[in-house]
Amino acid sequence: MTTSELVKTVADLADARAKLTGRVAVVMTMGALHDGHEALLRAARERADHVITTIFVNPLQFGPAEDLDRYPRTLESDLEICARAGADLVFAPSAREMYPDGPPQVRLNPGPLGEELEGASRPGFFHGVLTVVLKLLQLTRPDLTFFGEKDYQQLTLVTRMVRDLNVPVEVVGVPTVREPDGLALSSRNRYLSADERVAALALSAGLRAASEAAAAGSSASDALAVAHAKITNEPGVRLDYLVLLAPDLGPAPEHGPARLLVAARTGTTRLIDNIPIELL
Ligand code: PAF
Repeated sequence: MTTSELVKTVADLADARAKLTGRVAVVMTMGALHDGHEALLRAARERADHVITTIFVNPLQFGPAEDLDRYPRTLESDLEICARAGADLVFAPSAREMYPDGPPQVRLNPGPLGEELEGASRPGFFHGVLTVVLKLLQLTRPDLTFFGEKDYQQLTLVTRMVRDLNVPVEVVGVPTVREPDGLALSSRNRYLSADERVAALALSAGLRAASEAAAAGSSASDALAVAHAKITNEPGVRLDYLVLLAPDLGPAPEHGPARLLVAARTGTTRLIDNIPIELL
């Protein structure tokens, strides 16, 4: 296994990037890498000659009530995963390196979708996400960038930003990686107690039941009701939202492809998940 080159400054990134020829892909992360990130890196590896990973816990996307300092930082094991998955270059800057003048005055506005779903309970979250994503795209200048479908609203907004602002990069979505029992992989799963982890399974089970109901001919509202019952029957789960929308997160269609998204709390941990639904 070869190691990935680690750079921590914008200047060193520019030097290392200048040496990469052919198609370059970037996978952006906040570290605490797991098999879901590894799937992104492997998907990137298949389509590109070189893969850059960024590891940066972006303070702009943390609200005042969210604990930036508590976010797991595991650089050593992250670097092992990067090397194993074939990343050539890892850019792991400090907050001062990314924001030398303090928090940026100019930020991306994600538009109306940025205020809904995750944006409704995390004001300013997608402003922070899109601002850092655009910065990292400028710094790494990739041909391709890979985002997990697990954070489906983020993937949708990044795709929209790239289209609206003519950013010269192809955004590729990668399906969610799940534990054998259905739980979607997430850096936050480490906060779940054994009981909370069992309760959390209601989310993926509810989504799967709705997808199966739709495949058997249920209407959109019936499929939604199936998922709602399964999730709310679990006493350890407090539902935030459960919505059926179009794949671009516009209004749900009567027929054809749709997306079912859920957010809920188990204990103090907020979890999200989603699934494609085909309405007959
Ligand atoms: O999905 C994440 O880990 C973050 O939101 C991202 C895209 C790396 C931006 O900080």
